[in-house]
Amino acid sequence: MEDKESGRIRRMFDRIAPRYDRANRLLSLSVDRRWRRVTRRELEGRLPSDPRILDLCTGTGDLALELSGVGSVVACDFSHPMLVLGKEKASRSTSGRRIAFTEGDALRLPFPDRSFDAVSIAFGLRNLESYRQGLAEMHRVIRPRGVLAILEFTLPTLPLFRSLYLFYFVRMLPRLGGWISGHGQAYDYLSRSVRQFLAPEDLDRLLERAGFQEIHHRNLSAGIACLHLGRKPSSGSCR
Ligand SMILES: C[S@@+](CC[C@H](N)C(=O)[O-])C[C@H]1O[C@@H](n2cnc3c(N)ncnc32)[C@H](O)[C@@H]1O
Repeated sequence: MEDKESGRIRRMFDRIAPRYDRANRLLSLSVDRRWRRVTRRELEGRLPSDPRILDLCTGTGDLALELSGVGSVVACDFSHPMLVLGKEKASRSTSGRRIAFTEGDALRLPFPDRSFDAVSIAFGLRNLESYRQGLAEMHRVIRPRGVLAILEFTLPTLPLFRSLYLFYFVRMLPRLGGWISGHGQAYDYLSRSVRQFLAPEDLDRLLERAGFQEIHHRNLSAGIACLHLGRKPSSGSCR
């Protein structure tokens, strides 16, 4: 899809970086913080002590910061301005010192095979030019029995709530996002890309095809976000 060409996506995030956090807090009424805490708790229960975690599409590092209380984190993104802001934020927190910010493309990860106990990605998968290639890279860098956590926006299924939410998402969010960030097109893209993204059951199937097991998802906030979890099988077991 022309919309998702990597260079275009990177330039869009470069431009909105300075106001990204503020727009997130205002547009989600800070509920995004709760989703990241849930992701941390779900990962914590599945990982060995002091794990090595890769947070992909880390942006300004909010999930990386949350996860730095669990283990050491490599926070990776291809937008330089996002990473600069993430580093500044991390330097103001004690656990933030456990985060190494790294520039890299999620479709061609600059890490060896089997180098992480877990990979997390929040609101990033939807933006990749190829979900399949992104998932293959995540599978490659996770060690056997390691865990994948994907947090993404979804659309609620309850009919009345879905209609109200779509009204907000299609009619209001691009305008509000435009006022807050100065880049209405980016929030128009957000609205469109969420509507075009996979339903949770379809993403589960894609995870299975990418070689993950123990897959399940948890709807958050009446289905406006969804957390998917999967585990890489132990070496030797079939895909
Ligand atoms: C919506 S933001 C999410 C940031 C953060 N994870 C959060 O929860 O706020 C998406 C991020 O994905 C990054 N991104 C998109 N495609 C990427 C790719 N192919 N490789 C690396 N980063 C990518 C963008 O630069 C942006 O920072």
